[in-house]
Amino acid sequence: MLNVSTSLPSYITFESLEKIASLLQNKQVAVLVDENTKRDCYPILDKALEKSAIPKPLLIEIPSGEIHKTLETCTHIWYELTQNHFDRKAILLHLGGGVIGDMGGFCASTYKRGIDFIQIPTTLLSQVDASVGGKLGIDFNGFKNHIGLFQTPSKVWIHTPFLKTLPQNEMRSGFAEVIKHTLIADKKAWKNLSEINKDNFGTQDWTTIIAHSVALKTQVTEADPTEKGLRKILNFGHTIGHAIESYCIEENKKKSNKKPVFLHGEAIALGMIAESYFSAYLSKEFYPNQNFISKTDFEEIRFYISSVFEDTISNFRKAIQQESILQEITKWAKQDKKNAQNTILTCALEEIGKATFDIAVSESQILECLRNI
Ligand SMILES: NC(=O)c1ccc[n+]([C@@H]2O[C@H](COP(=O)([O-])OP(=O)(O)OC[C@H]3O[C@@H](n4cnc5c(N)ncnc54)[C@H](O)[C@@H]3O)[C@@H](O)[C@H]2O)c1
Repeated sequence: MLNVSTSLPSYITFESLEKIASLLQNKQVAVLVDENTKRDCYPILDKALEKSAIPKPLLIEIPSGEIHKTLETCTHIWYELTQNHFDRKAILLHLGGGVIGDMGGFCASTYKRGIDFIQIPTTLLSQVDASVGGKLGIDFNGFKNHIGLFQTPSKVWIHTPFLKTLPQNEMRSGFAEVIKHTLIADKKAWKNLSEINKDNFGTQDWTTIIAHSVALKTQVTEADPTEKGLRKILNFGHTIGHAIESYCIEENKKKSNKKPVFLHGEAIALGMIAESYFSAYLSKEFYPNQNFISKTDFEEIRFYISSVFEDTISNFRKAIQQESILQEITKWAKQDKKNAQNTILTCALEEIGKATFDIAVSESQILECLRNI
């Protein structure tokens, strides 16, 4: 269990947006948005910058959604920077969710071998998770975050009022990562979570919840910036969650680019139930001498996640009626970046509030986990 600290590194701030202007003096500035953050968030940032003498930034707009987290969209971003003669002292502001942050960071870090960038996350998921820890990248050939790098942004500017326009299902998607942080590292916070449910999201003190989650993630990522060890615990729920997400994205592409059935956090919620099941019921097969959560702990986890993600779970159960679909999802787990030497490696819970990593899981075990979501 981590000795949870509540302090944040200096590059992560909850300060007023107006203060960003001091970092933009005498620089070429571009703001990366999608159509939603252009409409709902950019006017707020624009107003904050208006009070300074900063010239209007270049606005680079990309279409929203995971299906656009591709090299093609990066080409558009690099093209815009190039056409507008952005130099190596230029700075990019990423105003959006995890897609904008991951892809914008990737583009900034590679444009002319790297320019500065500031993450201004506007979804709960990106405020508690994606903007923290320096992982940047894009999807490739259907594989999530397949191409990318680690790079710390100049700043991460968290402004919780952006969440006011975020759709409820996106809010809940981000909440999955809050749940994950408590399950892997903070048993006390897990107990407090039970008071939060999808019907009282509107009355939560999000600044406190986000700051706690960010402090937790930062503590883990600073101990292991490039994911050689401890950082892997942040992937709890992701071996199976990513496999479900990737499968759905590819299936939807085949049916003329409909939206993925599950949002990222929804897929991770499913993955957390599956990997908790694995921890409680299956992990002993290869690790007989290690302690894992009890079956009662699993029921407690499943009960809470199901109360928040009830419809996600019932949609998933409806969608996987055919055994062949489960097998397809399992195939995606074999591509996971955490795997080594043809072995699927996952995270497991030793206790509620304590995760372990590099735990081997067989394909048949993944199938059984999927059947028990
Ligand atoms: N780098 C990391 O460590 C890390 C961690 C977790 C997830 N991720 C990545 O993050 C991505 C998911 O991020 P996400 O859930 O933020 O999705 P997203 O970026 O697709 O945003 C979700 C939707 O919300 C809209 N939106 C954003 N802010 C808004 C606002 N304030 N008001 C109204 N609409 C708004 C967006 O336009 C989009 O349609 C995935 O690509 C995932 O791989 C990265």
